[in-house]
Amino acid sequence: MAKMWAGRTDGTTNKLADDFNSSIHFDYKLYKQDIKGSMAHALMLAAKGIITDKDAEILISGLESILADLESGKLQFDMQSEDIHMFVEQELTKRVGDTGKKLHTARSRNDQVALDLRMYLRDEVDTITVLVKNLIAALTDKAEENKTVIMPGYTHLQRAQPISFGHHLMAYVMMLMRDLERLADCKKRINVSPIGSCALAGTTYDTDRKFEADKLGFDSICLNSLDGVSDRDFAVELMSAISLTMMHLSRLSEELILWTSWEFKFVELSDDFTTGSSIMPQKKNSDMAELIRGKTGRVYGDLISLLTVLKGLPLAYNKDMQEDKESVFDAAETVKMCIEVMTGMISTMSVKAENMLKAAQSGFINATDLADYLVKKGMPFRSAYKIAGQLVALCIQKNTVLEDLPLDTYKEFSELFDNDLYGEINLTTCVEKRISEGGTSFASVQKQIDYVRENLDI
Ligand code: ARG
Repeated sequence: MAKMWAGRTDGTTNKLADDFNSSIHFDYKLYKQDIKGSMAHALMLAAKGIITDKDAEILISGLESILADLESGKLQFDMQSEDIHMFVEQELTKRVGDTGKKLHTARSRNDQVALDLRMYLRDEVDTITVLVKNLIAALTDKAEENKTVIMPGYTHLQRAQPISFGHHLMAYVMMLMRDLERLADCKKRINVSPIGSCALAGTTYDTDRKFEADKLGFDSICLNSLDGVSDRDFAVELMSAISLTMMHLSRLSEELILWTSWEFKFVELSDDFTTGSSIMPQKKNSDMAELIRGKTGRVYGDLISLLTVLKGLPLAYNKDMQEDKESVFDAAETVKMCIEVMTGMISTMSVKAENMLKAAQSGFINATDLADYLVKKGMPFRSAYKIAGQLVALCIQKNTVLEDLPLDTYKEFSELFDNDLYGEINLTTCVEKRISEGGTSFASVQKQIDYVRENLDI
């Protein structure tokens, strides 16, 4: 079939080249944005007297009927079309005749595709934002339920100091709160209208770019037409934000995988979010968490592919830029799925408080508190640290724990030890006493929870 751009050439191309060039099999997703954008364009053209009001009316009702028919399934995308923009315009001309051919006045597919993508992505930001909030709510609920559950906190994956499990979960909430900020921030730069940049240089028609931008809910317009058609920073920025969210989900997934292992047994995932093995009947695998961890690599790949596509492009539009869509669509679809699955996993998991406590009771994770006890009685920290270390070594040798060493033994190391030391090294005390801002005390965890609930209204 001859192309709409037949002119200099007869518009027929090699079938292989056609298929290679075509993007409708993925940019059909932009149909709604493309149609709404065209409606605003028709309105602007009429408002400026470039086409008549009657023409605008015909164009808009034609576009409305296409939208309705696509949504009801009456109209199918024509996979022979080059892209969604050509498809809509062709269909419009089929429906309204020659008036349809007026729509593309003072416009190019270059500013049109930039417009559509920005409109699509700003909606995706809103959807992802709601999903992140839901996950924050699930984590915050779990944190509140488990505020007083004591677990070992780790560094180097070695037991380090006792913490509240609620505190651990709230750490992820804080990461996700920053993700929300990043999403809101990148939306500011997505929501700038490129339409009216035309092919690259603007137009000789007396257009009103602000009018069109306002109709489409944009905050402002791009100030340079070359930049307007060439900029895909906004998509890169969104993918960077999404990549960080995936990184956070992936770290949480990794912990869930560890915690559900027989070695840890800190949590059990609901049967709804685990799988069995086709050969080993005893297995309950954390496949969903593993998939989230795996899909993180895929989203990073999406980000890197767009960055790489863009890095060598001369201004202004180049067809390379058609490669932006699959990456950014994939990244957005993937993060949405992963957040939803994570939310389901978190809200249905059960916490094995007794196993967490048992793990906290071995590993001498109250040794810092033992040293602090001596410091509070007047000993310099380095000396206290050494004595605490020697006492740990003694416990290991005697196969016992700090809580069970008799006071006489303590006194052999320092006269400052007294009976009150046992209260100080009790695990609950160790947690409860970490009252510094942002620390793991139960009061501090509650403060974090209150902060999040207040800020997000959850
Ligand atoms: N399908 C194209 C894309 O996604 C639309 C813009 C095409 N512009 C052009 N001059 N060939 O980038």
